[in-house]
Amino acid sequence: MSTTSKTLTFDTSTSRANPTPKPMKRLSVPKIRQRKGGEPLVMLTAYTVRMAQLLDPECDMLLVGDSLGQVIYGLPHTVAVTMEMMIAHGAAVVRGSYHAAVIVDMPFGSYEASPQQAFENASNLLKHTGAAAIKIEGGKVLAPTVEFLTKRGIPVMAHVGLTPQAINILGGYGVRGKSDEEARSIVDDAIALSEAGAFGLVIEGVLEPIAIEITEKVACPTIGIGASAQCDGQVLVSEDMLGLFDRTPKFVKRYGMMSENVQESVRKYADEVRSRIFPSRDQLYGSVESE
Ligand code: KIV
Repeated sequence: MSTTSKTLTFDTSTSRANPTPKPMKRLSVPKIRQRKGGEPLVMLTAYTVRMAQLLDPECDMLLVGDSLGQVIYGLPHTVAVTMEMMIAHGAAVVRGSYHAAVIVDMPFGSYEASPQQAFENASNLLKHTGAAAIKIEGGKVLAPTVEFLTKRGIPVMAHVGLTPQAINILGGYGVRGKSDEEARSIVDDAIALSEAGAFGLVIEGVLEPIAIEITEKVACPTIGIGASAQCDGQVLVSEDMLGLFDRTPKFVKRYGMMSENVQESVRKYADEVRSRIFPSRDQLYGSVESE
């Protein structure tokens, strides 16, 4: 439904403060669900307005991941990420995008205690960001929470396999599902969460056969990261794939050289400042007469 004000046309289906430029239409959760087994879903992380603007045209989903704890805030892991951080960055990404569905991670400690706790925090997250959905990490123990939220208007993306918020239990970020028992338990988690109503499922850091089995067995689209090309979509941390960091984990493919570009540009700038080449006439306002 669209309503027209005097000066701007608002696409209320996107329920955002910013006007949506026609003919752009933000992808909805039901549209994403329908992509199961179809054209692969493209998802990348975004934490800021400018990155959202740059990624949005090519992405089906933008994930405001709690990986921002490490990427933006320099934290050792995601455990210390707060609701305030997720709200601030989630709102920025929504403001910077028109096309992709924006999904925001629920931070550690904001949803595990009970479905009621999860609803309170998830509804706040959607209210204050304008995002379409939230993502939570964990297994079948969270199936009742997924059902509770979904039935009350909050679309949930689940996240199984390597779940970084559990770092203090896991002890590291190694690949999951090496034992038959663990492999079975990850598949069972995925099925339970999908049956509870999750509209999508991130599968992170598992042996490939596990991701393939889950993708075949669940009704919702699977989004792989270190999982399988047979998933219904893929996600990466944008700064990883753009080459911002020196270390490239095995599951990341570098599509850019961001750190080299930044270092080279800063080196040139520093040289030019030190040698008084910058600013030149082009960047100066000159005198009253010349302006
Ligand atoms: O926090 C994050 O960025 C994520 C993705 C890596 C899936 O959860």
